[in-house]
Parts: sequence; C-alpha cells; structure tokens
Amino acid sequence: MSTTKEPKLNFNSAWDLAPAPEDTKHISLKKQYDLFINGEFVKPNSKKYFATYNPATEEKIADVAEADEKDVDKAVKAARSAFGKWSKLTGKERGKYIYRIARLMQERAREFAVIETMDGGKSIRESRDIDVPLAANHFFYYAGWADKLEYAFPNKNPKPLGIAGQIIPWNFPLLMAAWKIAPALAAGNTVVLKPAETTPLTALKLAELIRDSGLPNGVVNIITGAGKTGAAIVNHPDINKIAFTGSTDVGKLIQRSVSGTDKKLTLELGGKAANIIFDDAPLDQAVEGIINGIFFNQGHVCCAGSRLFVQESVADLVIRKLKDRMQTLRVGDPMDKNTDIGAINSKEQLGKINDYIKIGKDEGAEMYQSTCVIPKKGYFCRPTIFLNATQSHRIVQEEIFGPVLTIQTFRTIEEVIEKANNIPYGLSAGVWTDKGSKIFNLTTKLKAGVIWANTYNKFDPTSPFGGYKESGFGREGGLHGLSAYLDM
Ligand code: NAI
Ligand code: MG
Repeated sequence: MSTTKEPKLNFNSAWDLAPAPEDTKHISLKKQYDLFINGEFVKPNSKKYFATYNPATEEKIADVAEADEKDVDKAVKAARSAFGKWSKLTGKERGKYIYRIARLMQERAREFAVIETMDGGKSIRESRDIDVPLAANHFFYYAGWADKLEYAFPNKNPKPLGIAGQIIPWNFPLLMAAWKIAPALAAGNTVVLKPAETTPLTALKLAELIRDSGLPNGVVNIITGAGKTGAAIVNHPDINKIAFTGSTDVGKLIQRSVSGTDKKLTLELGGKAANIIFDDAPLDQAVEGIINGIFFNQGHVCCAGSRLFVQESVADLVIRKLKDRMQTLRVGDPMDKNTDIGAINSKEQLGKINDYIKIGKDEGAEMYQSTCVIPKKGYFCRPTIFLNATQSHRIVQEEIFGPVLTIQTFRTIEEVIEKANNIPYGLSAGVWTDKGSKIFNLTTKLKAGVIWANTYNKFDPTSPFGGYKESGFGREGGLHGLSAYLDM
C-alpha cells in the first residue's frame, strides 16, 4: 500500500495559478474525458481526442473526446429509447429528478465555478456569483413547471417534441447548458447536448452530476466535439428539435440544414446592443451600467451593451467618468477574486478582437484604452472604447464579442431610436433615464428582444430572452422557453 496520498489536483501546472487551496481542494478533474451516452462515459468511435486549454495560462487542462457521426447516432438512439419512458413519467416524477439536479449543482457550486473559470477564462467572481447560481436556478424554476404543464398552457394538451439536439457556445458554458436542458426535461423531452470545443469541462462535470443524480439513462446525453459534431447533430434524421446558441453565421447554416425537414428550430445568435444614456439619467449609475454592459464576461456576451449612445449635453461628463472608472478595472488572473476582467476565451477570439481594434483605428474612430498592466502569458485585452464612432463604421455594425465599446452621441429621442435600430441585430438594449414615460416610449420602438431600463445584463429564469432579425428567433427562459419544447 502506498504511504503517500495521491494529490487530487496538480496533474498539470495549470493549478499552480489557482490562488487559495480551499478553492481547489474539492475539484477533481480527469486528464481525459469520454462521451456521456446512455448514462455512462464511453470512448469515441474515432478514438480521437482534442485538448482544452486554460486561456489565462495557455496550458492544457485535459483531453476531450471528439464525437463523430456514429457517436452522435449512438447518443440519439439512447435518447430515443429513453424518451419512451421519460415522456410517460408523471410531471411530478420528472420534476423530482430536475430538482435533484438543481440541488446537486448548488452542493457542487464551488467546483463548477472553479472549473468554469479555468476552462473559459471568466473571472471567478462571475462564475461563483452569477453563472453557477443562475444555472441552478434554471433547473429549480423549470422543475416547478414539470407537473403544471396543463396549467401553464390550458386547453392546449401540451406534449413533448421528442429528442432535442442542443448546441451551445463558450461564453456561458454551464449556464447555456442549464438554459437548454432544464426546459427540455420539464417538458418531457430527452436531450443530446454538445458544449463548445474551448469550454467542454463544466458540461462534462454536469454529465457526472446527472449520472450521480440517478436520472434514467439516456435522458441526457452530453457529447463533445467541434463544428463537425454539431453538424452531425443538426443533420441526424431522428432529432425533433434543434436549439442553438452561437454565431449568426453558424445559425444561418443550421437554418438551411433543417429547412425542408419537420425539425423545430430555435436560434439565439449575435447581438450589437444599444445602451442609451439620456441627460436626465442618474449618471453615476449609468456609468456602472455602461461598464457592466460591455466589460462583464470580457464582453463575450451576445446581449452586451456594445454601442453606447450618450445624449450630447452630458456626453463630455459621461465619457470623463467612464474613462476614470475604466482605470479602476483590474484585468488579469481570473482565479483572483478581485479580478474584474479575466482572460479572452481563446487565441482565435483574441485575434478577432485585435483585428477589430485595428479596423476601428483605420476607420478613424478615436481609441482609448485603460493603462492597466496585463499578464504576459495568456490571452488578455485591455478595456477599450472608441469615441467619435459613426453608424457606418464596421466596429459599430459588427459583433466584436470582446471588451470593446463604440460611443456615439445623439440629440433627440427620434434620432437615437433610428440609430439604435439601424443594425442587422435585434437582441437587447438598455435605456437610462429618470422618466418612466421615456422608458415606455423607447421600449415600444426599439427592435430588441430584451430591453433593460436603468440596469443592464440582469438575468432571471422567469423572463424570456431572445432576439429579432439576425439575432435569431424563439425565446428561452420563462414560459416562452418552455413552450419551445412542447407540441401544442
Ligand atoms: P460558433 O457559432 O462557431 O460556435 C458555437 C457552437 O456551435 C459551438 O458549440 C460550435 O462547436 C458549434 N458549431 C460550429 N459550427 C457548427 C456547425 N456547422 N453546425 C453545428 N454546430 C456548429 O462560434 P465561434 O466560432 O466559437 O465564435 C465566432 C463568433 O461568433 C464570435 O466571435 C462571436 O462574435 C460569435 N458568437 C456569438 C455567441 C452568442 O452567444 N451570440 C456565442 C459564440 C460566438
Ligand atoms: Mg478551455
């Protein structure tokens, strides 16, 4: 018998950066992850694995299985066979399982938060205080509807759709898994879910949790891989519904693939939200809203307030306050609880953001960045704003998905409505004013699925979320999110 205790962590030096031992002592990560199909972890058909990295250290964390068409087929068969039993359970029974998942997630919250931060680069404060609790809340919320479907949709005889193929992005890996899985299960569907290739680890931890929860085998299958694996899910003939969150380009591809089939589809795609500050707004609060709107989660947020509109009479003051506040933001080690802005999710994404910063300068907008020191290793980007941006600039029209804000000024409400809507996207918007009447006026005229007033980036499982135009269609969250998984 060995006398030395095997350390749970430190199989690679990514852990060396983790600050406090109490943060990591409950974390167990494997070196290699297989596919979660029919209640167990199985090797991929191709025997191929790909690495997932810690973007703050550039070090490999683990190897993850790459699912091919045969693996997708296996997962779909498991989901189909589970569907027969799962859809016939009473809503109350289904609800019990979903509540159990929610409670286990709370119990393991710390582990989920640390892994989310390691794998994706977001600050531990955000993983711990926002992503993980909200993910658990989605399971709690939808567990409550499982036995009330008739009440939620009276006289409609709601029935599950069948198998949901769910493809999620890398900006909120665990939270997006919860957004997708919880309503699907509450409605009586079974699931094949694929996380993004740069952030698969919390979904695989969720697979372990689901196995431990005793959920019947095959009800949730979690398979990993990149775009090819995603396409194999989309194209599988026995899938009844596709739910996708990600880029508009891939969303369009998926829409083309399912056209002519009877698969149901919801798409949650990009955004380029207007955050609008009127001269009667509480300006200090508004500046906090601007900061949170664009720098939360490194700006990797589809609903980020990435276009700031400030009323001309207060523009100088707001911009001065904003620059001062930007100087106080700490960019760096995501594991440090005092960090405000963590690592950019991947080398590719950092390259894309830097390209846009160059484009902005070439287009003639005036760049300002905070002067903070950023780590030499890892993928980091200083908080960046562009003054004197104009409607025709690419940095104003295109989704950058990073900590980069464009600033435009306006005089009248009509002018700002026109500019805010003159964009291919329509996911979200923010309005800051002291006048309730102005809020109601704007919210009826802005073409955006979600509009915040005197706050920004607030999420709740009860409220529907989704877009117009190139931001996609269908809603997630609330009863709207549940109805997207029901045939009625
Ligand atoms: P992406 O749209 O390629 O990736 C999202 C998910 O789709 C991943 O799980 C990926 O594996 C999967 N996927 C990729 N190709 C697929 C296909 N042909 N069929 C089915 N699934 C497929 O996003 P990517 O390339 O990681 O990021 C590029 C840009 O997209 C970002 O810079 C950002 O602007 C935008 N984006 C927007 C998101 C949002 O929530 N609005 C989320 C992620 C990216
Ligand atoms: Mg990673």
